[in-house]
Amino acid sequence: MTNDKELYDSELEKLLNDPRIIRLCQFPQHHGSNTLDHCVAVARRAFELAEKLEWKIDEKELARGAMLHDYYQYSIKEEGLTAYKHGTRHPQIAMEKADKDFNLTDKEKNIIRGHMWPLTFAHPPKSKEAILVSLADKDVAAREFARPEIRRAGRIARKIRDRILEKK
Ligand SMILES: [Fe+2]
Ligand SMILES: [Fe+2]
Repeated sequence: MTNDKELYDSELEKLLNDPRIIRLCQFPQHHGSNTLDHCVAVARRAFELAEKLEWKIDEKELARGAMLHDYYQYSIKEEGLTAYKHGTRHPQIAMEKADKDFNLTDKEKNIIRGHMWPLTFAHPPKSKEAILVSLADKDVAAREFARPEIRRAGRIARKIRDRILEKK
């Protein structure tokens, strides 16, 4: 194990106990998923990739960047946005809103701003953490599109969310 999984999970847990994060479950994502499930899946995948690649990462910044990468807080359908328009504009919106609520480091800002690269060509990922979130996001999104019936990560995310919501 290259990185501290306990530390990573405790950072995720902290975020999953925050009502501002929990409310992301109101916003739909690809095919039956929602933004909270999606972000948990991306966070888990990003850590798995770091381990596979044996990349030493900053656990806190990766956890926060992954969990906040889609913190744009609107429904794409209700806003009437095309996939392209949403794809190009939401990283900036997510970064600004997340910075306002969570006071981000420069690396965390870039993780969010760069996650759609190369679509947002002028904003590439500039750290290992940002590359991991960008890759994990594409991987999770592809699974959400391709196999809506097999979303293991989504199910785990929902279980965690339900557990937290039960506690409230
Ligand atoms: Fe995104
Ligand atoms: Fe995403």
